[in-house]
Formats: sequence, C-alpha cells, structure tokens
Amino acid sequence: MSERRKVTIRGLHRMKEQGKRITMLTAFDYSMARILDDAGLDMILVGDSLAMVALGYESTVPVTVAEMLHHCKAVRRGARGAFVVADLPFMSYQVSPEQAVITAGRFMKEALMDAVKLEGGAEMAPTIEAVVRAGIPVLGHIGLTPQYVSKLSGYRVQGKDAASARLLIEAAGAVEAAGAFALVLESVPAELAALITQQLSVPTIGIGAGPSCDGQVLVTYDVLGLYPEFTPRFAKVYARLGEEARRAVSTFRREVEAGEFPGREQSVSMSPEELEKLKK
Ligand code: KIV
Repeated sequence: MSERRKVTIRGLHRMKEQGKRITMLTAFDYSMARILDDAGLDMILVGDSLAMVALGYESTVPVTVAEMLHHCKAVRRGARGAFVVADLPFMSYQVSPEQAVITAGRFMKEALMDAVKLEGGAEMAPTIEAVVRAGIPVLGHIGLTPQYVSKLSGYRVQGKDAASARLLIEAAGAVEAAGAFALVLESVPAELAALITQQLSVPTIGIGAGPSCDGQVLVTYDVLGLYPEFTPRFAKVYARLGEEARRAVSTFRREVEAGEFPGREQSVSMSPEELEKLKK
C-alpha cells in the first residue's frame, strides 16, 4: 500500500478555503487507528469519550491523564497519515494556563500527538493562548461540552435561543482569536453552526451541528454500533458490529461446548511415525 501524505494544519486550512470537507473519527487503540488511517480519514481524535465507550465510566469526567496517554500512544502507532488530536481530560487544564501547558506538553512529548483539544469558550481563551504560545496546536470545542455535563444540567442542545446562540458566536470568535487552529461545534442548531462556520477563518468540525460545518466528527463506537448503552440522535450507525460480535461470540461458545471447535483445520497433527515412536 502506498504511503499517505501526512495531514497538516496548513492542509486542513486549505481544505476549508477550497470547500473540501474534513473527516474525523475517534480511535482508542492501534487496530482502530489503522482502520481509520487506511480509510483515508483526515483526522483521528483520541476523544475522552473513551471514558464511556471503552472504559465503562458513566461520563467523561473521571478519565485521567495516564489513561488518556496510554490510549494516545497506541493510536499514534497505528496512524500514519491522519492528523491525531488528544483530548485533554477534565481538570487537567482548567486549573490554570500553566497547568494546561504542562498537561498538553505531556501529550505532545510522551504520546507524540499532533495537537490537543480542550473544551470551553471565552473563559478558556487565556489557556488556549498559553498552550499555543508554547508551540502546541489547540483544537477548540464549544456548544455541548460533555466535561461540564453537571453544570449544563445534562447532554442538551446548546444555543437554541438567540441569546445563547449569540454567546456561542462570541465564544467561537474568542477561541479563534486565542489561536485555535480549528473548532469542534457539538450539539448546536444547524443554522447557528452555519453562521459560525461563515464567520471563522479556521475550520469548524461539527458533531450534531448540521451539514454546513467544514468537517464532521463522530464517535466510532456509535458509527459502528459498538456501544450498547445509547446512540445520540445525531450519530449515524453505518454498521452493527456489536450485534455481529455477539453472534460470533455465542457461536464460539456453542461450538466449544459441542466439541466442534477446534476442528481439523485449526489443529496440528503429528506424523504417524512420530506418533508411533511416542506410543512406544
Ligand atoms: O470525546 C470525544 O469523542 C469528543 C467528540 C464527541 C468531539 O470530544
């Protein structure tokens, strides 16, 4: 297979200028990163959604820097051309800009990420500025920001009325002005996402934000039907691998119990001569 060209921030900005859609999905391990990279995805996100879909936590809040780093390193080994972004976990950057620089630096040095993502609007601008000043690219994330699920009173669409929509437009401007190279817009009305996308010069990447964003991101476990708890309304299930996996595992169990597995094809035999010697 021919080597992919490495996706860069310049390349992503050019895609916005040329009206080419940016594609991004999440990966949490080597094999999934290989699948996404081989499929030609522009970006891979090691999202903190792994807290829920891979680690079984009830929200993204408990996941730690150590857990995220472990998964980022595996994804890095599987991603050749895609631009890989690590989510900074809750409370690993909110304390101060200094804390954010130190945490983001670990993801760059220890897991060789291409960039980090952090959640928040205007209040995060000084933090984004500090991280970018340290030479670390930042992907912003506004709208529904799952790390603040308690403050937001649940996973709700944001910016539905004019007043809250205006605040999100301001937040998008502040994140761009602080130096973010792109911005995730999560769970906002399509019309608002379209307005923000028009106003920003950096790309917007939508999740539950309608078709007008410069790119789209989804959680791969939703795309592949691998997370049994729930699927957000905005996610599209392209394959039902969870059901397929359950069928395969049940068949394995039945075949082992019935003595049908392993069969001849899965077994290695001794030569009759060696077997004879063994019996003597
Ligand atoms: O953690 C994640 O997977 C994300 C995406 C939903 C954007 O932040």
